[in-house]
Amino acid sequence: MDRLIVRGNGALDGEVRISGAKNATLPVLAATLLADSPVRVGNVPHLHDVTTTIELLGRMGVEVTLGDRMAVEVDPGTINSFSAPYDLVKTMRASILVLGPLLARHGEAEVSLPGGCAIGSRPVDLHIEGLRAMGAEIEVDNGYIIARAGRLKGARIVLDTVTVTGTENLMMAACLADGETIIENAAREPEVVDLANFLVAMGARIRGAGTDTLRIQGVPSLHGVEYDVLPDRIETGTYLVAGAITRGHVVIRNSCPQTLDAVLQKLREAGAKLRVEDNLIELDMRGRRPQAVDVRTAPYPGFPTDMQAQFMAMNLVAEGVSTIAETVFENRFMHVQEMQRMGAHIRVEGNVAVVTGVDHLNGAPVMATDLRASASLVLAGLVAEGETTVDRIYHIDRGYECIEEKLGQLGASIRRVPG
Ligand code: EPU
Repeated sequence: MDRLIVRGNGALDGEVRISGAKNATLPVLAATLLADSPVRVGNVPHLHDVTTTIELLGRMGVEVTLGDRMAVEVDPGTINSFSAPYDLVKTMRASILVLGPLLARHGEAEVSLPGGCAIGSRPVDLHIEGLRAMGAEIEVDNGYIIARAGRLKGARIVLDTVTVTGTENLMMAACLADGETIIENAAREPEVVDLANFLVAMGARIRGAGTDTLRIQGVPSLHGVEYDVLPDRIETGTYLVAGAITRGHVVIRNSCPQTLDAVLQKLREAGAKLRVEDNLIELDMRGRRPQAVDVRTAPYPGFPTDMQAQFMAMNLVAEGVSTIAETVFENRFMHVQEMQRMGAHIRVEGNVAVVTGVDHLNGAPVMATDLRASASLVLAGLVAEGETTVDRIYHIDRGYECIEEKLGQLGASIRRVPG
C-alpha cells in the first residue's frame, strides 16, 4: 500500500490548478445512462472513484472511451446489464447513483446495498422510498436492491433529511418519468446544481436547482451532449487551508469561488487575507498564526462536512480554543486519534470536538481512515516537526488528483512511497 511522507517545510508559496469536482463527476457519469445517444463529459478528474465509476459502466456493457483534455465519452446505447455488483459498490458508495437512471431508462436495476462506512451508517432509505413514491417496486434481497418499474410516474417527495446523492438519484429518475415530480427539502449543493445543468443540457426540464424545492417535468427521452463538470470546491478549500496552516501564500486557479462562501468566511475569521476573482482565489497568511475558528457542519450553503477535518488540522496549531461540531455524519472524527498521536490537544464530547491550539506538532506515523481525514493528516504533517508518514493513502487517491505533485508545486516536502 502506498504511503505519503511529509516533512514540515515552512510556508507554502505558489499556484495550484483545481481539477473537476469528484462529487459532480460521479453523478454526471451515472446520468449518462439516461441518454439515448453518446455523451462527452469534460474536466473529469483523474481519481480512483472516477475509474471505479467507469469500470461500473463498463461492466454494464456501456462503451466508455477516454478522450483528450480530461474528457470521457460514454455510449449508453451498448448497455446489456442493469446491475451494480457488491465488489464495486463496497469500494465506492456513490455507485448507488446508477439506481435512479437504470430504473427510469430501462425499468430495472439491481444495485448492491452499500452498507456502513468509516464515517457513519449512511443508509439509502430515502433513495428507495422516493423511487417507490414514483411507482417503482423495490425489494431488498441478499444485500441487493432489486427494483422494477414501467414508466415512472411524477410524485411529490418530501425528503426527511437533506441528502445529496438521494436528491441526485431522484432528480435523475424524475427526468424520464410521466408528469411532474416535486422534491422538497432537496439538497442545494453546487454538485446537485451542476448535475441539474447537465440534465437540462440533455433536454431535461428542471426548475429550482440550488433551492430546496426541485420541480422536474418528465420528458420522453434525453439526448447526448458535451459538458464540462464544475471545479472541485473541496479540493480548493483543502489547498487554501494548506496555505493558511503553513502561514503561506497560495493562488488557486480554475476554481469556482462562489461555491465556497462558508469556507472563505471561516478562513477570513482565521486571519487570512483573501483576494477573489472570477475563477481565482489568492490567500495570504504570511507572518501570521491562524486564529482558532469554531465550525459547525451543515448541508450547503452551511459549512461542508467534507472540510471539517481540514479545519480541525488548522485549529490544531491555531491561537486559541475552538469547537468543531459535526452534524451531518455521526462518526466523522476518525482523524482525531491520529492527530493526537502528533501531539494535538483535542477532546471529543459526542459530536463536538474541542481543540486547544498548540505551538507545534510532531511528525508521526499515522493512518488514513477516510478521504477527508487523510487530507487533514497531510495538512497536519505540513506543519509538524520531522517526518509524518501517512499510510493507506488509497483513500486520498479516491478524491485528490496528484496531491503530492500539487503540494510539491507549492513548496511542500512530500513524496509517495509505493508499498
Ligand atoms: N441519509 C439518510 N438516508 C438516506 C440518505 C442519507 O439517513 O437515504 C443521511 C446520511 O446518513 C447522512 C445525511 O443523510 O447522515 C447526509 O448524507 P448524504 O446522503 O447527503 O451523503 P451522500 O450523498 O452519501 C455526499 C458526498 C459526500 C458528502 C455528503 C455530504 C458524493 C458522492 N458524496 O454523500 O462526500 O460528505 O454528500 O455533503 O456526493 C467525500 O467526498 O469525501 C464525501 C464523503
